[in-house]
Amino acid sequence: MCGIIGYIGNKEALPILLSGLERMEYRGYDSAGLAIVNNRSLLVEKSVGRIEVLKQKTKNKNLYGNLGIGHTRWATHGDPSTVNAHPQFDASKKIALVHNGIIENYQSIRKMLEKEGIQFESETDTEALAKLIGFLYRGDLESAVEDALSQVDGAYGIAVIHSDEPDKIVAARMGSPLIVAKGTDENFVASDPAATLEFTRDVAFLNDGEMVVVKHNEIKFKKQRKMITKEFETLAYSLEEIERGGFDHFMLKEIYMQPQTLEETMRGRLMLKEGDVKLGGLRDVMEQLVKMKRAIFLGCGTAWHAGLLGEHLFEDLAGIPAETEYASEFRYRNPVIEDGTVAIAISQSGETADTLAAIREAKRKNALTIGIVNVVGSTIARETHAGTYLRTGPEIGVASTKAFTSQVLVCAMLAVKLGRLRGKLSHEEAFDLVNAMNELPSKVSEILELRDQIKAIAQRFSQARNFLYLGRGYQFPVALEGALKLKEISYILAEGYPAAEMKHGPIALIDENMPVVFLAPRDPLRSKLISNIEQVRARKGIVISVCNPNDQDIRSISNEVIEIPQTLPQLAPILSVIPLQLLAYEIAVQLGLNVDRPRNLAKSVTVE
Ligand code: M6R
Repeated sequence: MCGIIGYIGNKEALPILLSGLERMEYRGYDSAGLAIVNNRSLLVEKSVGRIEVLKQKTKNKNLYGNLGIGHTRWATHGDPSTVNAHPQFDASKKIALVHNGIIENYQSIRKMLEKEGIQFESETDTEALAKLIGFLYRGDLESAVEDALSQVDGAYGIAVIHSDEPDKIVAARMGSPLIVAKGTDENFVASDPAATLEFTRDVAFLNDGEMVVVKHNEIKFKKQRKMITKEFETLAYSLEEIERGGFDHFMLKEIYMQPQTLEETMRGRLMLKEGDVKLGGLRDVMEQLVKMKRAIFLGCGTAWHAGLLGEHLFEDLAGIPAETEYASEFRYRNPVIEDGTVAIAISQSGETADTLAAIREAKRKNALTIGIVNVVGSTIARETHAGTYLRTGPEIGVASTKAFTSQVLVCAMLAVKLGRLRGKLSHEEAFDLVNAMNELPSKVSEILELRDQIKAIAQRFSQARNFLYLGRGYQFPVALEGALKLKEISYILAEGYPAAEMKHGPIALIDENMPVVFLAPRDPLRSKLISNIEQVRARKGIVISVCNPNDQDIRSISNEVIEIPQTLPQLAPILSVIPLQLLAYEIAVQLGLNVDRPRNLAKSVTVE
């Protein structure tokens, strides 16, 4: 959730740290700080708010030095304040530490150190670790970090420096992502490759329990105090992919990228003539997948919504009993996992702590685990037995958009593959499905043309206090996703509901001030949905329908209509969610809100 950057080399550390922090700001943005080693002392600057504030504070200050660490914070323990911002320090103020994660036993460490006469300044869990390292320091930072980490419980990605050891950064990981990026006569550590991509593409991903000592010309990996070797890989994505490229916001850019990202997700995987799908990353486990008795989709937020669609698709196209679980609930529920169960983790970042823990729990109980993940080399991608990458490139906007449509598409591709192999889908049915998939990018482009119309709707309803989103069957998860998009970036209370459930409660909310978004493409449940629309109209609710062109029945009973191209019902969520993404975006812009950095949220939720 927070972002970590560390630099050691022969350049000035300050601009490199600031640029890395700016690129990671989407991970956490309530406060930030940095420490630079200069002439055997630490130069420190911290600020509350955006990196821009920190940048301004560092101007005209002599923050010179070739070794430094920086941090952008998403508060867990203690308010966003300069004292709680990282780096945190040991008692001598010679050791600086930046931390992503939560030290669970920080209170007992703190009490023990306070008894030793060490005073604390912040409310953070991180300070306990910094002070513990200082307490154990006997002239060797590497050993002090190893000793301290052996006493902590919880999750961490850390980078530590000591002003008396100006030739190294010591970094370690347990549960929070950390990479080392290798340059020429300079090296970096970071929680996200986006922070260092400007300088080098060669990265190594640390695994849990690993530590690294980084010097300007040497990188030493360790595990359980022993040296290990690790491979570096060259990242394929470009700097341009993590920049806004002329769009006002990352979210808008990412909404508009969906024709290309869906294309990428399918590239080389669709066999149009054969009516089949190839998923190379699953080849080795395909036999087990075909024989599976039950699928459990695991995810959080938007990824959980994609899982709900995966569940429908598996049942409908492959005849596989399937269910979807909130990863955060599954991990603590002692779930029953029988032979033949496959746990499928869906995650954009591949680092979501709850999803990772859920997949570990499933693995512990002998389930085959599959990852549907975007970030290459991320922890979930590495810890699952096999998987399929989304290939959508970095998603920076906190509100997930392009990852969602590709997650659903991968679920659909996998369902078709399994449906064919299990004899549930005929050649004709599969043929129609893969050919309809192939047409999705151009249909998404058509929907993106509707931006002005959707903007006008946003203008009319941006002052609404609540929104309801209703859909049935394949469109119910879309209703949930549309509501989530709106609430996370506009702070308007929005509820997604199965349309038929409305009469069991939410109907009480409907009056002339309540906009109700209906997902109403032509599908087998459309006539039922029409009755639900009538029920809303009867109570003077404002009906905004997302439907297919020339649908007079829907048009005649709606206040607003957004027409999207028709496709097969199983794929329609990939189209119907697009106007909802745009609607949420335009409403948030109308309200003058920071679309890419909504309050209280972080892009990658690496704490519980
Ligand atoms: O990286 P993940 O896909 O695992 O993230 C899961 C959720 O945290 C994420 O989808 C979140 O709900 C987004 N902010 C939704 O827009």
